[in-house]
Amino acid sequence: MFIDKQSPIPMYHQIMENLKKQIEDGTLSPDTLIPSEREYAERFGISRMTVRQALSNLVNEGYLYRQKGKGTFVSRKKFEQPLQGLTSFTEDMRQRGLKASSHLIDFKRIACPEHLRPALQLSNSDTVYELKRIRLANDEPMAIETSYIPETFAGDFTKAHLTGSLYEYIENNTGLAIAHAKQELEANVASKEEAHLLSISTGTPVLSIARTTYFQNDLPFEFVLSVYRGDRYKLIHTMER
Ligand code: GLP
Repeated sequence: MFIDKQSPIPMYHQIMENLKKQIEDGTLSPDTLIPSEREYAERFGISRMTVRQALSNLVNEGYLYRQKGKGTFVSRKKFEQPLQGLTSFTEDMRQRGLKASSHLIDFKRIACPEHLRPALQLSNSDTVYELKRIRLANDEPMAIETSYIPETFAGDFTKAHLTGSLYEYIENNTGLAIAHAKQELEANVASKEEAHLLSISTGTPVLSIARTTYFQNDLPFEFVLSVYRGDRYKLIHTMER
C-alpha cells in the first residue's frame, strides 16, 4: 500500500480505497487479520487517528469487522438481495446453496394491534399470530423477522411449523398462492437487543424492512418487520428509463 502525503486526497481516504481494492480483488481474503492501527501508523508515518478513521469507516461499510481483543478482520462478501421477485428467506438461501434455519424467539396469539389492522384488513375482534424469528444462513444470524399472520390463514399453527419456511406452510395450509408484496425500506442502527440477537455490535447499520404480503386474490396474509444486517446485505435493483 502506498500513501501519497502530498495528494489533495485525504490520507484516511487513500487507506480506505487501497484496502477496499485489496478486499475486492481478493488480495485480502475473508477473515484475514489486518495490521493494527499502530502498525499502519508506524508503517506510513501517519497518526493513529487517521488510520482509525479509515478502519472505522470500513467497518461501518461492512468491509471489515472487529473482534474484541483479537483485532480487525476482512469481512465476507455481502449478500446481494434483488428487490424484484417475491421470495422467502428459505428460497433465497437455497438459491445461494446455503442452509436456511430459524430460531423462534417469540410466538403468541394476540388481538391484532391497532396500527396493523389497515395493512392486514382486519377489525378489532380479529386475532393474529405474532412470531419473532432469527433467520440464519449456514448458522450465521442474518436478520430478525417479526411476522403477524391473521389467525384465519394460520390453521393449526404451532411452534413446530416454524422451524422451516413460513411461506411454504401458509401456501400448503390455505391452498392459496402467494403473489405480491409491498415493502418499505429504511436505514437504521442496531439497538442493544437487536445487536445481541444478530451477534453484531450495538450501533451497527441495519436495514429495516416492513412488508405486507398478499395472495393472488389480493388478500393480505402477512405483515412483517425485518431487521437485516447492513454489514452482510446489499439490496440490488435495476431501473429502466
Ligand atoms: C423473507 C422476507 C419476510 C418473509 C420471509 C418468509 O425473509 N423478508 O418478509 O416473512 O422471507 O421466509 P420463510 O418462508 O423462509 O419463513
